Amino acid sequence: MTAKTRQDVAAVDPDDIGHNTTNNPAFNDIVASRLNRRHLLGFGVGTAGAALLQACGGGGSGGGFPVLPPAPAPAPAPTPAPPAPAPAPAPASPKLGFGAVSKSLADVVAVPAGYTATVLYRLGDPIATGVPAYANDGTDAAATYDRRAGDHHDGMTFFGINASNKWDAAAASRGLLVMNHEAITPLFLHPTGQTTTGTGNAQVRTVPDEVLREFYLHGVSVIEVNKSAGAWSYKQDSAFNRRVHTLTEMAFSGPAAKTDYLKTKFSTDGSKTRGTLNNCANGTTPWGTYLTCEENWAGYFRRIVATDNLNRSAREIASFTRYGVAGTGRELWATVTPDTSDGLYGRWNTEVITGAATSADDYRNGANTYGWVVEIDPFTPGSTPKKRTALGRFGHEGACLGPVVVGKPLVWYMGDDSRNEYIYKFVSTKNWDAADIGGGMAAGDKYMDDGRLYVARFNADGTGAWLELKLGVNGITAGNAAYAFADAADVVVNARLAADAAGATRMDRPEWTAVNPKTGEVYVTLTNTNASSRPIAATDAANPRYYNDPKGAAATAQTGNPNGHIVRFADDGGNPAALSFTWDVYLFGARATASADINLSGLVADNDFSSPDGMWFSQATAGLLWLETDDGAYTDVTNCMLLAALPGKVGDGAAKTITNVDGATTRQQATFIGKAPGTDGLRRFLVGPKDCEITGIAESGDGRALFVNIQHPGETTPVGNIGNPAQFGSHWPDGGNARPRSATIVITKDDGGLVGL
Ligand code: FEO
Ligand code: CA
Ligand code: CA
Repeated sequence: MTAKTRQDVAAVDPDDIGHNTTNNPAFNDIVASRLNRRHLLGFGVGTAGAALLQACGGGGSGGGFPVLPPAPAPAPAPTPAPPAPAPAPAPASPKLGFGAVSKSLADVVAVPAGYTATVLYRLGDPIATGVPAYANDGTDAAATYDRRAGDHHDGMTFFGINASNKWDAAAASRGLLVMNHEAITPLFLHPTGQTTTGTGNAQVRTVPDEVLREFYLHGVSVIEVNKSAGAWSYKQDSAFNRRVHTLTEMAFSGPAAKTDYLKTKFSTDGSKTRGTLNNCANGTTPWGTYLTCEENWAGYFRRIVATDNLNRSAREIASFTRYGVAGTGRELWATVTPDTSDGLYGRWNTEVITGAATSADDYRNGANTYGWVVEIDPFTPGSTPKKRTALGRFGHEGACLGPVVVGKPLVWYMGDDSRNEYIYKFVSTKNWDAADIGGGMAAGDKYMDDGRLYVARFNADGTGAWLELKLGVNGITAGNAAYAFADAADVVVNARLAADAAGATRMDRPEWTAVNPKTGEVYVTLTNTNASSRPIAATDAANPRYYNDPKGAAATAQTGNPNGHIVRFADDGGNPAALSFTWDVYLFGARATASADINLSGLVADNDFSSPDGMWFSQATAGLLWLETDDGAYTDVTNCMLLAALPGKVGDGAAKTITNVDGATTRQQATFIGKAPGTDGLRRFLVGPKDCEITGIAESGDGRALFVNIQHPGETTPVGNIGNPAQFGSHWPDGGNARPRSATIVITKDDGGLVGL
């Protein structure tokens, strides 16, 4: 028997793999009309001040709570909390108020002088009475993991709670912290990593308890957190505590529910499925529920292409190919034998099984039951989560709620994180009614099951268009050459193929989206891409860079757009439901030492970064943007980091022509770049421990506690080092020779002030 870690089955980050082989717009071939730029520069936020408060991910004082007439009467509090000193209001023109943290390769969390970071919630921590403390040596009983913190903490929201146990976005000392557990670092979960036999397609897992642990370690945590005597902790015995994982039953709603695409042996009418996984970024609703987003789900399914394709239609093969459903399954979950009668393991095999007559007899449609935005009501622990199919099926990074206005549609902005994928938005049919605050899953049925799904095209002149994904429009027809669309459900199940047909713009891996509460403008991190996905001949105005970023003493070449950038756009007229927008590039990642045609935002030692990923506007400190990195390019110099920013607005910079270089080839690329931030507009706030990603961010209702996730410290530890703890890639947070653990930290200012200012 050999131990196996994820490195053996996925030598690269799954979201580094592109499956978009279309030739969708490369704007080099388009004669750019620059005249429309006036339109961009003249952009005015018509609705500024008209209740733009929202919170796509982190919650906090905006918390998705529209501060609008008619304001709902607050729920009466039978036992009022003891009076607290009223915090000073956030300044109208905030300034960054901390000293920059230096880049670092140390195995610690570094924060500015005057701040304290405390570990709050680690992999394996118990969230129910009677569950023992985590031994963290691979011996914890598998059956307890449905009541322990999951692994790879990611997107996160703080829902304040009042004394009536209701959502109160302003609550500052008690709340539900809801977070994703994206994936696992298998090496540290079992005594010596994953136990397997065989190789290649014949490699199988041999210890069912190891697999059961992994089923539970994915998904979502709901935990109650409290501040007492100035210190935050989670409440192990709270009745709100809940784990949602890969075994949790979920319902489907929206256009794909109860259609043939979702029928399985588990749900022969296509009305439900089990579980969620690879939950990356997140989102919120204005009625107080949580959205968790399924990103790199495709790789978990087993589908041996050479044999399964013999049993598949051309349409099915086109769909599998476009979504990358191929291989043995990254954790080999389908390989455990014997299977249980309810297909605990076999459900991860999405092949047509020999002898199975229809989709009621196997899990040939299993992969279609993942790739969705999932709504969870954290205030009702027994509620059934729903997969909202109207928002489309792709590699969902997050779902950021747009500006919330009574009487107007609700809008969510969404990235599809894979190379050359797209940016989407969903616009509800129903107009927002503040009476639905606290409406739970029924409010979700009202706003998220019926609406219009769009994908973005970025034009070379600084404008853009939202292209509707709907049967019969934008080339999404039965006659489409690449894929013959059959019905409305097909369009959401195969949203990537619909977006191809519509002519969307291929982006450099869209990660988080964030909406500026001051302006309503939308920011999207484009984390990075490589030369094969974005060769020098295929740059376009919105993905304009090609260069080499030599890494380390060996100057190892990293070509393409290895440091990433952040694009931002303003929907026309300040209307999130508009069908057109204007855009620019807010910020380019780069080493401070890179040349001017690479370091296009003028980054310096105190604010240079690479591979932006997590991103969220503080609601308590309107206009303060938090930016997190998930990087492998600049890691010769620094671990991943959190930066604070005070961005301006679309059009505050200038048109720019970049000279891209690939060996002896040079090529000019026109784009639009936002005003350089300087250190007053962008400053490093935190550097994490070794081999981690900084992700997930939320704040207490008063903005005086910032919650941040440290994901997968030490994850690239070689499998052979499991017996030699001194050689682990990280020992954070427990120190000594401990196995590393993903964890949530809470950051406070020592003088009790607003974090970041
Ligand atoms: Fe899970 Fe796109 O990062
Ligand atoms: Ca991410
Ligand atoms: Ca990432």
